[in-house]
Amino acid sequence: MAKNIFLIGFMGTGKSTIAKVLSKECNMSLVEMDERLVEEAGMSINDIFEKYGEEHFRDMETKLIMTIGKEGNSVVSCGGGVPMREVNVEAMRESGTVVYLQSSPQTIYERVKDSTNRPLLNGNMNVEYITKLMEARRPKYEAAADLTIITDGKSRNEICKEVIDKLN
Ligand code: S3P
Repeated sequence: MAKNIFLIGFMGTGKSTIAKVLSKECNMSLVEMDERLVEEAGMSINDIFEKYGEEHFRDMETKLIMTIGKEGNSVVSCGGGVPMREVNVEAMRESGTVVYLQSSPQTIYERVKDSTNRPLLNGNMNVEYITKLMEARRPKYEAAADLTIITDGKSRNEICKEVIDKLN
């Protein structure tokens, strides 16, 4: 079975954009985890959090990661919280390569500041909060990653080329 490519990283690091370009370049299927979960639940991520709680959303993510692991040949844009669970990390590493997209809190803030569909940032939309949450998560992202790409100041094509170069 062809391996998957999992893009991980904090919200707003460009996982969705890069996954789209990469899946075309590599002729692989595209999986946008958040979109799949929204379709499955028939409601927005905000509503899943509000109605069923974060833990339920995390369980949905784990189930989806397991399914993707069995399918193979996909470029997967992971939700920012996916590498927080060890079981998810194991499943990703077993079925593919994990690519960590890293951006500075300032870059992230600029990308997400107008978004209202990320429950963890609703009411916390500032560089200080993003920095704190990112630092708390950093060890998990780093431990999960097979390779790391710094995205600050780079175009989507540059990032994509760097991922492909490093994968080869
Ligand atoms: C989350 C990131 C979001 C989404 C949810 C939780 C997180 O995905 O899964 O709001 O915990 O970092 P993106 O990273 O695609 O924004």
